[in-house]
Amino acid sequence: MDSDKAKSRIKELTNIINRHNYNYYVLADPKISDHEFDNLMEELILLERKYPELSDDNSPTKRVGGQVTKDFPTVKHKYPMLSLGNTYNRKDLTDFDNRIKKAIGNSYEYVCELKFDGVAIGLVYKNAKLVRAVTRGDGTQGDEVTNNVKTIKSIPLNLFQDNFDNNIVDEFEARGEIFMPHKSFIGLNNEKIKNNEQPFANPRNAAAGSLKIQESRIVSSRNLDCYIFSIIGEKLPYDNHYDNLKLAKKWGFKTSEFTKICKNIDEIFEYIDYWEKNRNDLDFDIDGVVIKINSIKQQEQLGYTSKSPRWAISYKFETEQTTTKLLDIKYQVGRTGAITPVAVLQPVKLSGTTVKRASLYNADKIEELNLHKNDTVKVEKGGEIIPKIVGIDQELREKNSDKIIYATHCPECGTELIRKAGESLHYCPNKNNCPPQILGKIEHFISRKAMNIESLGQGRTEILIKNGIIKNIADLYDLSFDKLYGLEKTITNVLDGKTKKISFKEKTVNNILKAVENSKSVPFERVLYALGIRYVGETVAKILAQHFKNIDNLIYCNYDELINVPEIGEKIADSIISFFKDEQNIEIINHLKNKGLQFEIEKELLEKKNNLNGMTFVVSGVFNNYSRQGIKDVIENNGGKVSSSISSKTNYLIAGNNMGPEKRKKAESLNIPIISERELDNLIKEN
Ligand code: IVH
Repeated sequence: MDSDKAKSRIKELTNIINRHNYNYYVLADPKISDHEFDNLMEELILLERKYPELSDDNSPTKRVGGQVTKDFPTVKHKYPMLSLGNTYNRKDLTDFDNRIKKAIGNSYEYVCELKFDGVAIGLVYKNAKLVRAVTRGDGTQGDEVTNNVKTIKSIPLNLFQDNFDNNIVDEFEARGEIFMPHKSFIGLNNEKIKNNEQPFANPRNAAAGSLKIQESRIVSSRNLDCYIFSIIGEKLPYDNHYDNLKLAKKWGFKTSEFTKICKNIDEIFEYIDYWEKNRNDLDFDIDGVVIKINSIKQQEQLGYTSKSPRWAISYKFETEQTTTKLLDIKYQVGRTGAITPVAVLQPVKLSGTTVKRASLYNADKIEELNLHKNDTVKVEKGGEIIPKIVGIDQELREKNSDKIIYATHCPECGTELIRKAGESLHYCPNKNNCPPQILGKIEHFISRKAMNIESLGQGRTEILIKNGIIKNIADLYDLSFDKLYGLEKTITNVLDGKTKKISFKEKTVNNILKAVENSKSVPFERVLYALGIRYVGETVAKILAQHFKNIDNLIYCNYDELINVPEIGEKIADSIISFFKDEQNIEIINHLKNKGLQFEIEKELLEKKNNLNGMTFVVSGVFNNYSRQGIKDVIENNGGKVSSSISSKTNYLIAGNNMGPEKRKKAESLNIPIISERELDNLIKEN
């Protein structure tokens, strides 16, 4: 395909993907299968790699992340981000309505909206393209988090132009709330517990924390979402808020289907009543309702106080609370040994669900609550999904009841628990012998995308661990027919009481042994992924394998080398360093090496690395991911040449920040392509 054809196909694919993305994430009405979508995306990724000069900053391929933001710069808001006046009762709302009437007379209507409980964001669009995303900050200035926001699939990167009038809205700001849906939040917290980390207290904190992660690839995996609740600009398409929001949805924004025009205060009360009752049916948190005057002209007439608009107000829901009895405390052991205490409660109804358990977070929380056995506890579910204990009814405490003493030993393996200075969680240090911990590591190792030994499966892995046949991933390579054949166990499903017999018959055993043997030819990048280093997912493993070529280079590299690798930031670097610091991990790797697993990239790929052969580059400016010397080294290590001045022999000018204007002029006059550091990375990968 020549460059012109590639250009038009890239444009076409971008439009098709953006439309399908919108159908899926905004309209919840997908028109193609995930597989078909992935194929389109793959085609675009490959074309952009081949023609890096054609790749756009707002390409849908940016949604998977890859950019590292070292610092989030402070940016001044063009329009201040104000807050809303709060009300907690109907009398205050009636007063608000009376104030409006007094100021503008009887003819007005309201728009009622959900008050999303997340992180406020300002999205600046120029010529229908997202150019900047800024958090609220202090209302006057906030942090620029554009790279991370681009990974949120419900935020359009390019607006659909069909209903977009450039004369009116060539520059405007969309304001909204970024949030983490409950499903993603639960998944993330389970993952955190597995990894010895303190879970987030609520989805709001999880969303805020995610937006400030340096590696956008991790942000992308957090499945954040965003509702837009206003459009601000010099000239807006319609004279009322409701129609502007409706149009914004056609441009590509996700707006709430529950936004409603209310003609009077009674309709507002109805809306509030409904959502007070039904908010638990939503897959995200709301903490109230927002009431806004619909007409923009009337909004302007009413104006603002120094902090908030006079034309809008929020009604905050009361936090729902109940009391019940503490029956027990259970200690859950995560896959990496983290202990999380959970309160077992006498079942009680709260916000439409029966609560049987509550989060206790950690030992400090239990201490802070001063929990005693059989205490009557106050449980709250302030719109949050997992109820929490917020206090104790002292008067109902039984006489002489004992104070709760935090577990000292692991409930799974009996090892004494430890708690590192400065950390909030206890954990079981018996990494290599504590069953849930062994199981977690092995399950990941044998999974399809890692070593693909799935014929073993979870139930069978558990049997092998319980029988002491495997203690770590390396032991899988010492399995034999005799060790496996004939093992069996009856497993009872805790939920329905049904039993299932798992046995190691001849055919199964042979399949397992064959899969173990086959796994010895699994390429290095997948072996690296299989080791289960925190934050080293499939893509990061690929990047590391390509860069370091073999495991020893990775084991012995230092922090600075790591963060100079494109797409690797502090979090990933820290995790890799600490993984290889652990003697036991090194022992396991040595054992696996002896068994013949692949710990270096394939010869062919090694040779292919001289893939900038014959090309001459000129480097100018300051780079995000490379030092000046670093970028020269990368070019030379890949067979390219670096020259200090541009001539007709130069193949590419690599442009960093603040590149000298003379260099650009000269390159342009000689028709030499000017590429970014990322495009250089793509060029290396592609060739
Ligand atoms: S309108 C001029 N609408 O609540 C104020 N805000 O206290 C415009 N919020 O920081 C805000 N849902 O992040 C508005 N439907 C909604 C909202 C909403 C949540 C947040 C917003 C703002 C805070 C105001």
